[in-house]
Amino acid sequence: MKYALITGASKGIGKSIALELAQKGIPVLLVARNEALLGELRNQITDQYKVDAQILAIDLSQAGASVRVFDWVTQNGYVVHMLINNAGYGHSGQFIDYSVDEYAGMMQVNMQVPVELTRSFLPSFLQLPRAYILNIASSAAYQAVPGLTVYAATKSFIVQFSRGLAYELRKSPVSVTVVSPGGTATDFANRAKVGNKAVKAGERLNMTPEQVAKQAVDAMLKGKTEQITGFVNQLGAALAWLMPRKLSESVAADLYEVK
Ligand SMILES: NC(=O)c1ccc[n+]([C@@H]2O[C@H](COP(=O)([O-])OP(=O)(O)OC[C@H]3O[C@@H](n4cnc5c(N)ncnc54)[C@H](OP(=O)(O)O)[C@@H]3O)[C@@H](O)[C@H]2O)c1
Repeated sequence: MKYALITGASKGIGKSIALELAQKGIPVLLVARNEALLGELRNQITDQYKVDAQILAIDLSQAGASVRVFDWVTQNGYVVHMLINNAGYGHSGQFIDYSVDEYAGMMQVNMQVPVELTRSFLPSFLQLPRAYILNIASSAAYQAVPGLTVYAATKSFIVQFSRGLAYELRKSPVSVTVVSPGGTATDFANRAKVGNKAVKAGERLNMTPEQVAKQAVDAMLKGKTEQITGFVNQLGAALAWLMPRKLSESVAADLYEVK
């Protein structure tokens, strides 16, 4: 039995990815902090889809978290063939509004954990006939985003990390896919303390986590290297590339209500 390991599986896009995979008959290892939500999802998956689901409640912002995840997998003898680095969050507002520790935690979850888990699982993935790595970035990765400055930079890192690794592994059985959602109706904006203006814009344009998960899983199973979800977000990334940088940055600053 081969598992998909999904970080940030307790809610939002990660939960929808877990359900999408379980529906296809793939057993899942669910990782996040909220044990109660993970337990509910495990029960839903085993009842509804009759596939195995196991949970690990862990705070990935703590040092050494990825080692504890990897040890949990190996000590239980789970064979993983899909690694989905989805857990992530943002801090919105002026850069100076958050402490060094708050940024360190976010950078650990958004960048360090995906790199460490990928490095830990890759040797065993290379021994399998086929394995998959799916990294969830963001449409914010395609330009500087004043008001989400550090978050956007962490997602640019994930895009570049994924592109480089996909190239290195192109002749191996392991595919690397990076999926960049735009606004998606999850708890993200609430946790990031995004202001009213961006929330209102999101209400008109948001995709559902189910739509994002479906596109992400399809892209991963096809071995696509990169996918921005939804036409509007694809257009946004293309415009950000074409527009003068100062203009795309001032549009973002206005949306996230920073000076
Ligand atoms: N929603 C959007 O508009 C949007 C747009 C672009 C990209 N994304 C990306 O999509 C991914 C999923 O976010 P979402 O929108 O689904 O947000 P969400 O509903 O807030 O879900 C985030 C998930 O990450 C987990 N997580 C957060 N901090 C964690 C920590 N310290 N340790 C372990 N798990 C942690 C959360 O679980 P616990 O709270 O239980 O720990 C939850 O399962 C993120 O990488 C995000 O950056 C979201």
